[in-house]
Amino acid sequence: MTPLANDTLLRALRREPTPYVPIWLMRQAGRYLPEYATLRARAGSFMALATNPSLATEATLQPLARFSLDAAILFSDILTVPDAMGLGLAFSEGEGPRFARTASDERAIGALAIPDLARLRYVFDAIGEIKQALAGRVPLIGFAGSPFTLACYMIEGRGSTDFATVRRMAVARPDLVDRIVRVNADAVAAYLAEQARAGADALMLFDTWGGLLAPSAYRRFSLEPMRAILARLPEGMPTILFTRGAYASLPAIVDSGAACIGLDWTADLGEARRRHGERVAFQGNLDPIALTADAASVERAVGEVVAAAGAAPGYVFNLGHGVVPTTPPENVAALVEVVHRFTDRRGSSGSPSTRRAN
Ligand code: CP3
Repeated sequence: MTPLANDTLLRALRREPTPYVPIWLMRQAGRYLPEYATLRARAGSFMALATNPSLATEATLQPLARFSLDAAILFSDILTVPDAMGLGLAFSEGEGPRFARTASDERAIGALAIPDLARLRYVFDAIGEIKQALAGRVPLIGFAGSPFTLACYMIEGRGSTDFATVRRMAVARPDLVDRIVRVNADAVAAYLAEQARAGADALMLFDTWGGLLAPSAYRRFSLEPMRAILARLPEGMPTILFTRGAYASLPAIVDSGAACIGLDWTADLGEARRRHGERVAFQGNLDPIALTADAASVERAVGEVVAAAGAAPGYVFNLGHGVVPTTPPENVAALVEVVHRFTDRRGSSGSPSTRRAN
């Protein structure tokens, strides 16, 4: 396998020193980029784009062509796994995801099974093609949804602001929620292991909705299944766990077995680093909305996040959630440049464009 020209992300995940703080962004390929809109239109739909390895490769590389990002993230979606379980995923324009079938009662949840990974072959093929196209420039992050976040969409059949049906089930029929997250954990463990075999250099679990739960329910239905997945991944694989809105549960999250913990913008990054920075790396946590402000404000906001993170190894710059579609691409360019400049530990030798390989 080609050695990486820029391995700052992998070093930071291992809490080794890096010449500057690596940066990548959740949703770095997406609707804020005009070339993404063009590519999506050419594909016809989000799923047509995501299931075509060559087009998914093109989408993955789009942000890297514009910005000196330190990692690529596979272009796909967390909901491809329940789709492969037979729930029938579609994304309608401006509406978000929809499943043709839900898993919201005892019969449907009982019938769920780990999908045949051949149904997700397009993902593994995309990873192979992306790795080739990257030619070792930067590492590739593979990912999956957390068992609980997947369950939220599987039970409700679509997005929601409060997932009340799921939270009611967690109280009234915890056995059913246990069952669905267990199947999802088995499916995600197999899926991520296959992504690693296909060439992913690091793996991330996206737990967008675990923070909706009370702490004890979070530990049972979200964190525990994630811990089970992490324990089954190949030894030494760098991993990132991101639960949005669960800062109160951070001590338990630090014990999950993940190498790095992603924080949203409501978390206290400085406190997290001081308390737990010897045990895990941290990733985050600029408010994505900050990137819709003027350039001088973006620079100031970045300065605050970088100062909170401190100089100790084990830190990856990111937003506290995905890039929002109204983000001006120029602000992302400024963000990447400013993070690299503010965190350069090599003195004034060389500009970011000459000292980095990507
Ligand atoms: O981060 C990346 O650039 C990699 C690709 C990626 C996508 N989705 C592409 C996408 C990743 C890692 C995801 C994860 C994902 N998908 C999550 C967890 C992280 C998070 O954002 O909270 C969730 C909850 C989903 C489910 C999902 N997919 C929703 C709710 C939506 C519609 C609303 C939205 O936020 O865009 C999607 C669609 C989606 N997934 C788009 C992209 C680029 C936009 C689709 C389009 O209209 O072209």
